[in-house]
Amino acid sequence: MTAVLEVRDLKVRFATPDGEVSAVNGVSFDVNEGECVGIVGESGSGKSQLFMSVMGLLAKNGRTLGSAKYRGTELVGMPVKALNKIRGDKIAMIFQDSMTGLTPHLRIGKQMTEVLVQHKGMSEADARKRALEMLNLVRIPEAGRRLAQYPHELSGGMRQRIMIAMALLCEPELLIADEPTTALDVTVQAQILDLMADLKTVTKAAIVLITHDLGTVAGLCDKVQVMYGGRFMETGTVQEIFYKPAHPYTAGLLASMPRLTEERQEKLYAIPGQPPNLQRLPKACPFQERCTYVHDRCIDELPVLRQVGDANATLTGHTKACHLVSLQNPVSAPHAPSINVAADEARSA
Ligand SMILES: Nc1ncnc2c1ncn2[C@@H]1O[C@H](COP(=O)(O)OP(=O)(O)O)[C@@H](O)[C@H]1O
Ligand code: SF4
Ligand SMILES: [Mg+2]
Repeated sequence: MTAVLEVRDLKVRFATPDGEVSAVNGVSFDVNEGECVGIVGESGSGKSQLFMSVMGLLAKNGRTLGSAKYRGTELVGMPVKALNKIRGDKIAMIFQDSMTGLTPHLRIGKQMTEVLVQHKGMSEADARKRALEMLNLVRIPEAGRRLAQYPHELSGGMRQRIMIAMALLCEPELLIADEPTTALDVTVQAQILDLMADLKTVTKAAIVLITHDLGTVAGLCDKVQVMYGGRFMETGTVQEIFYKPAHPYTAGLLASMPRLTEERQEKLYAIPGQPPNLQRLPKACPFQERCTYVHDRCIDELPVLRQVGDANATLTGHTKACHLVSLQNPVSAPHAPSINVAADEARSA
């Protein structure tokens, strides 16, 4: 498999008046050609800043440490001019709020053709033709008429489709979608996810889907990386994460997903407690304050990502950052993850 993006030990730090914020704390992963990778975690876990740093779009008080390579070329520290050639052309990003990605005072047609004229050197006429093709691809009705409209004249769902069409204009090799459906109502969410699943087969772009909702990645992603406190807690295929979760945090996320069989009056499980303070992260496991299975080792020693079991480990690997040996039947109970702690690695060793 050829990697489009290779991230190694990436860290993001923000300088603030009350101290440094450690938003991303050393993550490593590849995104391979044609692959769809889900990045999942609660709000504030560092998902967006991880990719903002890859794209060179951190706020002024932020800095990136480590490495992120696009097809072997280092992006961290790359001069803006060179980065601009890659951004939008080779790597495109779409955001939760379609209004941030669209210029309010420019007609849709102008916004779309401008990108092609600038990045691809196309003529206005060719650019317009391609813009129409893209609007049809993302199933925008009356595409011709939309080109003359302004963003505020369209519904949220329609704007999000236009954002996706714009992101795909230059045929990027990597599409980063940051909570692309979060701001939309449930029916429109399903339509956009359906569209993205189609695009996955039509375009050759690798996709990174960032979401706080595990359910979103189920139908779309090949592999999933669960993030907490700026670190990966667990990585694996969708099947591994959903059917054999190995980290108590993943198990908690799964247990808090609404299920179809759930009776209406039953309350959903929620992981107790709050995400960690990124200015004062614990020295060892970031999940220790909320974990039912916390023990001495979790407080003393940072758990690093390790292969889960050995037998059927995939090439990309089902890995977890947790000192427990295994979790069994983690989501069998309706509300709380019923996790049987086999033994602590240290004690079993
Ligand atoms: N410019 C900034 N200055 C200080 N902290 C920031 C800045 N931008 C983001 N953060 C913090 O970084 C952390 C991770 O944010 P983010 O990656 O946006 O989370 P999410 O997982 O919800 O996408 C959050 O605690 C956020 O408050
Ligand atoms: S290392 Fe300890 S505190 Fe952290 S998730 Fe595993 S059991 Fe829980
Ligand atoms: Mg975010």
